[in-house]
Amino acid sequence: MTNIVVTGRIPHPGIERLGTVGSVWAWDDDEPIPTDVRNAHLAHADVAVTLLTDRVDDAFLDAAPQLRMVANVAVGYNNIDVAACQRRNVIVTNTPGVLTDATADLAMALVLMSTRRLGEGERLIRSGAAWQWGMFMMLGRGLQGRQLGIVGMGGIGVALARRARSFGMTIAYHNRSAVNADVANELGATRHELRQLLATSDVVSLNCPYSPETHHLIDADALQSMRSDAFLINTARGPIVDEAALVAALRNGAIAGAGLDVFEHEPTVHPDLLQLDNVVLVPHLGSATVETRTAMAMLAADNVVAVVNGGAPLTPVG
Ligand code: GLV
Repeated sequence: MTNIVVTGRIPHPGIERLGTVGSVWAWDDDEPIPTDVRNAHLAHADVAVTLLTDRVDDAFLDAAPQLRMVANVAVGYNNIDVAACQRRNVIVTNTPGVLTDATADLAMALVLMSTRRLGEGERLIRSGAAWQWGMFMMLGRGLQGRQLGIVGMGGIGVALARRARSFGMTIAYHNRSAVNADVANELGATRHELRQLLATSDVVSLNCPYSPETHHLIDADALQSMRSDAFLINTARGPIVDEAALVAALRNGAIAGAGLDVFEHEPTVHPDLLQLDNVVLVPHLGSATVETRTAMAMLAADNVVAVVNGGAPLTPVG
C-alpha cells in the first residue's frame, strides 16, 4: 500500500482522489503542522503532498527515508529544494495552468485598486469620517493608453496582459525568451530590457518565479529607475522585491503606489507598509477561489495517481 501524507488542509475532492491509490493521512487544521507530527508521519510516507508554506529541504527529506514523490499544491516551488529531491530520486510536481486565470484576475484587481485608490477610499468610509463628493476628491489614474510592463511573461503574465488590453492598456514585457509571435501580435506586446521596461511603464507587474536570480530583482536602484507616477504590482513572490527599499520609494515619492499580494517575510508584513496609504495589501490570495483551489488539489492528486500507477508525472518540476 502506498502511504500518502498531506501536510496541510486541501479541498476534499483531492483527498478522495488520492485515496484511490493509497492510504492517506492528512493534517486537517488551518494551523501549520507541528514538525514532530509531520516527521512522525513522513517516517512511513511514500508520497508527500505539500503546500507552499512547507519547506521541503534536507531536514524534511531526512525524515522521509522511503519518499518517492513530493506533489506541491502550488505553481511556485521555491519552497522545495529540487536539487536535494533529485539527489534522492524524489519526483517533484507542481500545479501550473489551473491557477492562471485566478491569479491574473487578482493582479488586475490590484492594478485597479492601486490606480483608483480603492483601499484608501474603503478605509475612509470605514473610519466614519465625514466626506462629501468633490471634484478633486481622491483622484486616481486612468488606464487607457497607459503601458503595463510585465516582468515574467509566462501563462499568468499573458493572461494579465489580455485583461489589461481590455482596459485599454498597451503591453510591454521582460522575459528571458520572447513570447510566441502569435501571442505577441495578439497583445501588441513588445519585449524590453528590465531597466527600459521599468523606466517606461505606468504600471509594472511582477509575474516571474522566485529564484536566486530574481531575489531582490526590484531593489532600490530598480525602484529609482521607475517613473514617479508609476505603480508596482506583486502577485508572484515577496522576496523578488526589497521590501525596505519599496517602503522608502513609496514614502519619498520615487513611485506613486503599489499593490501587494505577497510579502518578503510572509506572513509578516513590513510594519511601515501598514502606515502608508499608497499601497494596497492583500494576504496572498492569488489562487484563492473555490474553483481554483479545488483544481490545484485535483492536479496534485492526478500527479500522484499517475506516478503510483507507474506512469510519468503530469506536471514535473526540474
Ligand atoms: C501561489 O502562490 C502558488 O504558487 O501556487
